Amino acid sequence: MQKKVTKAVFPIAGMGTRFLPATKATPKEILTLVDRPLIQYAVDEARAAGITEFIFVTSRGKGALEDYFDRAPELEATLKAKGKTDLLELLQATNLDSGAIASVRQNEALGLGHAVWCARHLIGDEPFAVLLPDDVIAAEKPCLQQMIEAHAETGGNMVAAMEVPAEKTASYGVLDVPSAIGPVLPVHGMVEKPAPGTAPSNLAVIGRYILTPQVLRNLESHQTGAGGEIQLTDAIEKEIAAAGNVYGYRFQGRRYDCGSKAGYLQATVAFGLARDDLRDDLEAFLYDMLAMRQAAE
Ligand code: UTP
Repeated sequence: MQKKVTKAVFPIAGMGTRFLPATKATPKEILTLVDRPLIQYAVDEARAAGITEFIFVTSRGKGALEDYFDRAPELEATLKAKGKTDLLELLQATNLDSGAIASVRQNEALGLGHAVWCARHLIGDEPFAVLLPDDVIAAEKPCLQQMIEAHAETGGNMVAAMEVPAEKTASYGVLDVPSAIGPVLPVHGMVEKPAPGTAPSNLAVIGRYILTPQVLRNLESHQTGAGGEIQLTDAIEKEIAAAGNVYGYRFQGRRYDCGSKAGYLQATVAFGLARDDLRDDLEAFLYDMLAMRQAAE
């Protein structure tokens, strides 16, 4: 029986350079998808998967992310006084209990592996989840929940994986798997951002992980990898030879890369179309735009 996964790390200390100039003064993770910041999608996914302790790895200028999950007594009182119960419920659903969020600082953006290592004292000696909030996943059953259920059978380390076109593999960590049948894939190797044409497969790692505390110990050496950054992939990769307990998990759902402008715009349209209150107007607008573009060609 595996120890239950109850802690999740949210690395939010990156600089978000792909989103400049917006991220000059606003954390990327507070950018809004329809009416909720990216970080809320990740926190809600973790809550639905049974996570009770939320660890934010932050940096300068990210205070808004912690405030967001706090109570807003004045706003709540005003909505209550005005009888706006729907809005009040919406607002209260964003509150996390006292003590549920802990945060640690990453003083310098040295890479995702380093960010996760910064949370080591709060994680202790138990398996934990990592969620990158700029990967937003639309799924019937939340992606992390799918993974936690699979992890209850396998134990070890698990990374979310999805197929990407061959020309995109250089942007991801890529899995070497002997067989790509079924959702749970034992991993024989991992390469962070392989040079074009050298990827071992087209299965890319995306921002959901369940990791053993040994991965934190592997990060202790602060070894740099691709791009001169301390890579989480490298620390997980070490466990393949040492323990043979790394699994890829092909989740059901669609992932949007909201750390890139194109992915963020696609997510905005997809999540807008999924909303009953927005669908009709948005759909009509999109048809109009397309018709106008076609007429202009
Ligand atoms: P990204 O690779 O998207 O980096 O990090 P970034 O800095 O956020 O964005 P770009 O590439 O410059 O546009 C993936 C996740 O890891 C976190 C980021 O905040 C993001 O959630 N991260 C990355 C850290 O917390 N610390 C780091 O040193 C690097």
